[in-house]
Amino acid sequence: MYKIVTKRQLNDAVTLMEVDAPYVAKKALAGQFIIFRVDEFGERIPLTIADYDREKGTVTIIFQAVGRSTKLLASLNEGDYIHDFVGPLGVPTHLDGYKKVCVIGGGVGCAIAYPSAKALFQKGVEVDIIAGFRSKDIVILEEEMKAVATHYYLTTDDGTYGEKGFVTDKLKALIEAGNQYDLVIAIGPIPMMKFVSLTTKPYGIKTMVSLNPIMIDGTGMCGGCRVTVGGQTKFACVDGPDFDGHQVDFDELMKRNSFYKEEEQHDANHICRLFGGKRNA
Ligand SMILES: Cc1cc2nc3c(=O)[nH]c(=O)nc-3n(C[C@H](O)[C@H](O)[C@H](O)COP(=O)(O)OP(=O)(O)OC[C@H]3O[C@@H](n4cnc5c(N)ncnc54)[C@H](O)[C@@H]3O)c2cc1C
Ligand code: FES
Repeated sequence: MYKIVTKRQLNDAVTLMEVDAPYVAKKALAGQFIIFRVDEFGERIPLTIADYDREKGTVTIIFQAVGRSTKLLASLNEGDYIHDFVGPLGVPTHLDGYKKVCVIGGGVGCAIAYPSAKALFQKGVEVDIIAGFRSKDIVILEEEMKAVATHYYLTTDDGTYGEKGFVTDKLKALIEAGNQYDLVIAIGPIPMMKFVSLTTKPYGIKTMVSLNPIMIDGTGMCGGCRVTVGGQTKFACVDGPDFDGHQVDFDELMKRNSFYKEEEQHDANHICRLFGGKRNA
């Protein structure tokens, strides 16, 4: 059992939790993730390791409550316990040998991009961060990201905060202004990662994205997380989740991720009598 030692609401839908998990904290690196089960009936849900403290033995997760399991997790409080918290899983992000990197986070993707930005900044790399949100009320991690950036740019789709526009507009402007990035890291909604990759391709800038296919075991056995990269089948849980954005078949990933939409909707809205009407089916 894993104790929640800190809980903080970052906006209406996004929660930060610091969890007592010393064995995970000991080995965790930027880009890796955990799989949790809220209780013994819970589904297995992957979440990125947003931060870790090896001395305290804690791991930070930042998640958006979108469906049954993330809402259940968000309903827990400081002092409560999470049943399973397995990790670190996945290949750490490769961060060596870069001089100037642009890290782009879209919405809750900022939480997933933050550890890579922090690790690069601590290595002395020049890090430009572009954080994009739909609107001012859902901005997260502004101060944390500013603290690990050489330059921090914020965009909102509706112009209510920062610069009006998409992260791709800002990225293009920065490249056109002469910034020579040797890597772009883009993490957020699949369409955002696709369009960032399309933006950097003509300039030949290496682009890394973090993929979020449906994962079940997280150890390369079930095949649920398969994605096509450069025409080859890869398992995101063991070969990724980071991949070359210029090689990813984003349209296939979008199709596969929406495969269970009806069931997820049903799941979120129906209480199952098998559990005495207390839990969702
Ligand atoms: C490697 C990885 C890292 C992730 N890191 C984060 C993070 O740091 N913060 C965050 O907010 N979200 C993260 N996600 C997404 C998160 O796992 C989903 O939001 C969560 O699984 C939703 O489950 P649910 O029951 O609450 O919602 P549901 O209503 O069941 O599903 C909502 C959507 O979440 C996705 N999803 C559902 N089940 C899974 C599953 N088993 N595996 C992967 N995706 C699923 C699907 O796209 C689905 O349409 C990550 C996903 C992956 C693969
Ligand atoms: S989640 Fe089962 S193979 Fe990746």
